[in-house]
Amino acid sequence: MCAFHNYFLSLLRNYNHKQMKRILIVGAGGQIGSELTVYLRKIYGGANVVATDMRECKSLGEDGPFEVLNALDATAMASVVARYHVDTIFNLVALLSAVGERNPQMAWNVNMGALNNSLEVARQHHCALFTPSSIGAFGPTSPKDKTPQDTIMQPTTIYGVCKVTGEMLGNYYHHKFGVDTRSVRFPGIISNVTLPGGGTTDYAVEIYYEAIRSGHFTCPVPADVYMDMIYMPDALRACVELMEADPSKLVHRNSFNIASMSFTPEIIYAEIRKRLPDFKMNYDIDPVKREIAESWPNSLDDTCAREEWGWKPEWDLSRMTDDMLAHIRTKLGKN
Ligand code: SER
Repeated sequence: MCAFHNYFLSLLRNYNHKQMKRILIVGAGGQIGSELTVYLRKIYGGANVVATDMRECKSLGEDGPFEVLNALDATAMASVVARYHVDTIFNLVALLSAVGERNPQMAWNVNMGALNNSLEVARQHHCALFTPSSIGAFGPTSPKDKTPQDTIMQPTTIYGVCKVTGEMLGNYYHHKFGVDTRSVRFPGIISNVTLPGGGTTDYAVEIYYEAIRSGHFTCPVPADVYMDMIYMPDALRACVELMEADPSKLVHRNSFNIASMSFTPEIIYAEIRKRLPDFKMNYDIDPVKREIAESWPNSLDDTCAREEWGWKPEWDLSRMTDDMLAHIRTKLGKN
């Protein structure tokens, strides 16, 4: 049955059929969702990508459908899925790592509630489901360098606890109910459209804005702490490539290590100073962010993603820095 199913899917792929046809994005107003909505609409057509968020987002309603949806309301989610004949859900709802530590109960309720509802709706309506995991799924007992795909995962943040639980739940729904769940462990995502909020890797976005805005940045993360990062165009491409990947090739599902670049605050600072020699940075360490950052890997080993669905990053720190500075200059009217 499984072999036949896979054979059938590969036949479809040979005829160049895309697996995703009608997509629901839950949490579309956030850092990933605001850009993923636009990206997916370009590929799949505006009408086929339904953006939802708990708040009204005017811009997301311009090129396709937008609905206000509280991800903690499973009935409302199911009704949107049924109404639009959705076949794939992207659940992007999350309270990030640093803000989660301020209110762990809320982080658990929001992160797990949205995931649980997405899994159940996906099961009942036969949808595929993408949910991001994170470098935050690892902890201080995981190997630090080239952290393997399958290794010890004992995160010390509530965010990480949610991510590991979410990965296991995703695999459970796949094995138990046959739900097509897939996920990547995102590095810190760097982008210039919507700001991330409450994450430990946010400094690597904020530094670019301050370089242009004020020429000075106060960094909350210690100078020598390495973390994995990825530029948004690579992150968006990863979502689509994984969801369109041949399921017969996927040994893993929830969740794939992906890697692109790894740097410390000093390294990104030096990269920006190559373009803006007067830019200055000092440190005012946030103890919560320090502890989190130090508990995460320096860099992930993404061999499985490369082998199972052809993952390959296209952006490095230097190219990303040129692109970020150019976009933010335009955005802030500092050309
Ligand atoms: N960017 C996230 C954070 O810093 C990690 O996935 O919380």
